[in-house]
Amino acid sequence: MKHIAIKDCKAHIGEEIALRGWVRNTRSSGKLIFIILRDGTAEIQAIAFKPSLGEEKFAVIKSLTMESSVIVTGIPQEHPKKPDVFELDINEIEIVQVAEEYPITKKEHGVDFLLSNRHLWLRSRKQWAVLRIRHTVYTGIQEYLHKEGFIRFDSPIFTPSACEGTTTLFEVPYFDLGNAYLSQSGQLYLEAGIMSLGRVYDFGPVFRAEKSKTRKHLTEFWMMDAEAAFVEHEENMRIQESLIRYVICKALTENQIELEILERDTGKLAKMDAPFPIITYEEAIEQLQNKGSDIRYGDDFGAREEEMLTEGSAVPVFIEKWPKEIKAFYMKRDPEDDDLVLGSDLISTEGFGEIIGGSQREDDYDILLGRIKAQNLPVEENQWYLDLRKYGSVPHSGFGIGLERTVAWISGVQHIRETIPFPRMIYRIQP
Ligand code: 4AD
Ligand code: MG
Repeated sequence: MKHIAIKDCKAHIGEEIALRGWVRNTRSSGKLIFIILRDGTAEIQAIAFKPSLGEEKFAVIKSLTMESSVIVTGIPQEHPKKPDVFELDINEIEIVQVAEEYPITKKEHGVDFLLSNRHLWLRSRKQWAVLRIRHTVYTGIQEYLHKEGFIRFDSPIFTPSACEGTTTLFEVPYFDLGNAYLSQSGQLYLEAGIMSLGRVYDFGPVFRAEKSKTRKHLTEFWMMDAEAAFVEHEENMRIQESLIRYVICKALTENQIELEILERDTGKLAKMDAPFPIITYEEAIEQLQNKGSDIRYGDDFGAREEEMLTEGSAVPVFIEKWPKEIKAFYMKRDPEDDDLVLGSDLISTEGFGEIIGGSQREDDYDILLGRIKAQNLPVEENQWYLDLRKYGSVPHSGFGIGLERTVAWISGVQHIRETIPFPRMIYRIQP
């Protein structure tokens, strides 16, 4: 018997095939039992008809519990009323395992319960949809970068020093060498990579000992850092913009079913072809104050401010030229104003907040050394990074995109804990 994926049923109408998967639920009515069968690729309604199966087999099917694993043989048919919906008339069923009573039922469960059962929660329809969108975003980012000539360059996870400020470092005892720190971003290593390969990116887990308990913070999340030689601040933002547009188009094309399950208003995502506005930090502060915020020049933005700054905008907004005190040591100073840096944050729409942080990098040895000292960072551990400014220093830029925040935004999921298979937060490391 030919085993096929449920998503491929359309190509096998009228032909006897076998499907392998799990029972999402069953419903019976007289001589009929309807099974919703899922196999990871899609779902289908499989129909057992008592007169054609016989008493015994029908009784076995009737006793199937939720999440039991089965192999069903039958003939796919087009739904009599719904185009592009298929059903399977069951001829034979093999039960692989009868599942015990499943803890996650149709009733409402608290989020703590669901998180404790994350290993099972992953099977639910909504989680399935989000994780498939995550796959699209992940592969979309890579496709775009490969098209643009970026070479994959894997940065280390054990690092000797901080990339993004010392307050969010995870320390790990490291043999006789004292402590290592889990990487907060591979950026500094990518800057070495571009001097060999021109354009590079990494994509992997990064770690922040964030004390924030918000819906936008994880302690372990996935970041794609990209870095390019001879690219300056403006071009850096244009690359980010076309990357985002590429990924959104891909999700709108490939994840229609998933977006529908999530009840995402895709009309909002479809408007992404307009240019993304760029406003300076100073303009942003003014806008916020005019809208009644009590934010002051020099403050960083919180969730509320980010939401206010994109209110009414159909597309994400870049905030550029930040005061150097509130940004990382490696950002290049603005040649027009020594107090500012050529950094940008890309704020997504609908309150989903910052999804990309990027900048042109400081390429002058002495200024960079001054910045390292001013931020009380260790010079010795950063000497290799300073070296890059000694041997053929060039203007260069890069950015880092948070995978989970981007997935949350595209999926319309309010909390990023649902956008990663096993979320890590301050108060949760199980399962
Ligand atoms: O803005 P960040 O801190 O930038 C950097 O790490 C740079 N070194 C990147 C670079 O230039 N190569 O982080 C980048 C993105 C943020 O915009 C956000 O999307 C995400 O990473 N992010 C988080 N996502 C989930 N949980 C957290 N705690 C996050 N912190 C940052
Ligand atoms: Mg940032």
